[in-house]
Amino acid sequence: MQKLTYKNYAAMSRAAADIVVATVKAKPNTVLGLPTGSTPIGLYAELVKDYKAGKVDFSKVTTFNLDEYVGLDVKHEQSYRRFMQEQLFDHININPSNTHIPSGTAKDLNKAAKEFEVKLKESGGVDLFVLGIGTNGHIGFNEPAAGMPAYTHVVGLAEETIKVNADKFFGGDMEAVPKTAVSMGLATIMQAKKIILLSSGESKNDAIAKIESEILTLDCPGTVLHMHRDVTLLVS
Ligand code: PGA
Repeated sequence: MQKLTYKNYAAMSRAAADIVVATVKAKPNTVLGLPTGSTPIGLYAELVKDYKAGKVDFSKVTTFNLDEYVGLDVKHEQSYRRFMQEQLFDHININPSNTHIPSGTAKDLNKAAKEFEVKLKESGGVDLFVLGIGTNGHIGFNEPAAGMPAYTHVVGLAEETIKVNADKFFGGDMEAVPKTAVSMGLATIMQAKKIILLSSGESKNDAIAKIESEILTLDCPGTVLHMHRDVTLLVS
């Protein structure tokens, strides 16, 4: 595992964009794994800038997002589908049918999660996965627990995650935050060929310190990234 430290959020976001752009240039039909949340907003803004400046072509790119809230319509202002449209997809030349986000509204969520895994496999797998990390060390919505499903699954959100997301995105209203989500599992994520994890701000210090301690524990799911051979932490 490699760690790169940046002087601020803007520099980290730019560096992450450089990695994504270089990946897409080297392989135009790249499959990207993507996160939502506050952390990747700067990265997505840089990618839009690069696209508008003619520096990158997303026409053959495929994307798979980590997770989605259960029960929010795709048009809901806090759905992760809407987030991705507004932050990235609506502003670049990606083929909409190449963008995949787990369904949080399917009648049978488990069946939809299995189909999502099949699609991911059929795509050839993720070339580059961009991750964020929760203050509690979660990646995707794989919350600290004694055990968890390996692949895409329905999951209950940790109290801490509900609180953090309420404050950041739901005007502090914990009741408004869905209590369940559909998330890729840790095994889904670990099958990516290359992973970069973005972390910005002091609230993530504890999670990053646990990863750096090199002790594997599902109490901090991000620590399992040590079992992958090509992971870079981008920290600011
Ligand atoms: P954040 O969330 O980017 O909003 O900090 C990251 C996460 O919870 O994984």
